[in-house]
Parts: sequence; structure tokens; C-alpha cells
Amino acid sequence: MFQDVEKILFDEAVLAKRIGELGEEISKDFANEEVMLVGILKGASVFMSDLIRKISIPAYIDYMVVSSYGNSAETSGVVRIIKDLEDNIEGKNIIIVEDIIDTGLTLAYLKKNLLNRNPKSLKICTLLDKPSRRQKEIAIDYKGFEVPDEFIIGYGIDYAEKYRNLPFVGVLKREVYEK
Ligand code: PRP
Ligand code: MN
Ligand code: MG
Repeated sequence: MFQDVEKILFDEAVLAKRIGELGEEISKDFANEEVMLVGILKGASVFMSDLIRKISIPAYIDYMVVSSYGNSAETSGVVRIIKDLEDNIEGKNIIIVEDIIDTGLTLAYLKKNLLNRNPKSLKICTLLDKPSRRQKEIAIDYKGFEVPDEFIIGYGIDYAEKYRNLPFVGVLKREVYEK
């Protein structure tokens, strides 16, 4: 697993520091209110669990399972909802929590879908942003880091379902996905 990593971009300490800042920012912005964090599985699972513990206002959690990449390295462009939210979000402050925004197709779809349910507010929080590959314009409210146009893995992010358990964010060696 580790031998497939080209380089580490953000190690555990760097991630923890930035996620602490994001949690504080969200807590300030919604002071005296409540938020519902919507984690987008599977990728956002690791980020979500670290982020919620850095939020000091009442925070509720729910998850959606969506997939557009499947086992391929390229997005299919078609987003499938495999598991929807459990509760109604009407009138609530919703924050979508993502691990990475790449083409933006997943979030563009999710944003439209959730806005139709009439939340009080809808914000987007992503750990990583890869702007070079964007196909749909997405306004990001909370962003951890920008990443270059390389194959990113770790800290929840996979290549063909592997590497999600790496404790850092790194770049996958080319030879692994080109063979
Ligand atoms: C990945 C990632 C984001 C999405 C970003 O999810 O976790 O959800 O792709 O790509 P986009 O901006 O080009 O749409 P994926 O569909 O691979 O599912 P996963 O989270 O289960 O890995
Ligand atoms: Mn995902
Ligand atoms: Mg994936």
C-alpha cells in the first residue's frame, strides 16, 4: 500500500490543524444556531468524523451514498444516489461535507437535489479542491486545501476502493493506475 504512494501532500498533523480551523469557522458562522452535516460516502467518511469533533455548536449528522466513479479512474458523469438522507432537511442549515471536488459533477448534482428540499441554508465544505479539472462551477464555502491535477488518494479517498485507510493525503504512483 505505502509503496504505491508517489508523495505525501498533507500529513496527519497538517490535516488536523486545518480541520480544526474549518471546525472553528463553521462554529462561528452558525453561532447560536444548529447545523446538519451531510457527509458524502464513502470518500468523506474520514474527514467527516474528524471535522464534527471540531465543531462546538449543536451539529447533527446524516450521510448520503453517491457514486459517479465506480471502479474507474474517470468520472462517468452520472451520479447515482445509493442511499438517501434519513430525515427531512426543510428549514435546516445544511452543510455538505465532501473529501474532494474534482469535475464538480457530483456536487452540482447534489446541490440541486438538496436545494429542492428547501433547507434554510446550504453550504459546501470540502477538504480538497482540484480546480484544474472543473466542469461545473461550484462555490465552495469551506475549503481545506487545493490539490494539483494528480491522482489523489488517502484519508478516505480511493483508487478502485483501495487506499482509503492511508492516514495522510498523497499522490498515487502513475504506474499503479496506468498498468
Ligand atoms: C469521489 C469523491 C467525490 C467525487 C468528486 O467520489 O469522493 O465525491 O468523486 O468528483 P467530481 O467532482 O468529479 O464529481 P466517488 O464517486 O469516487 O465515490 P466514493 O466517495 O465512494 O469514492
Ligand atoms: Mn465521493
Ligand atoms: Mg471514489
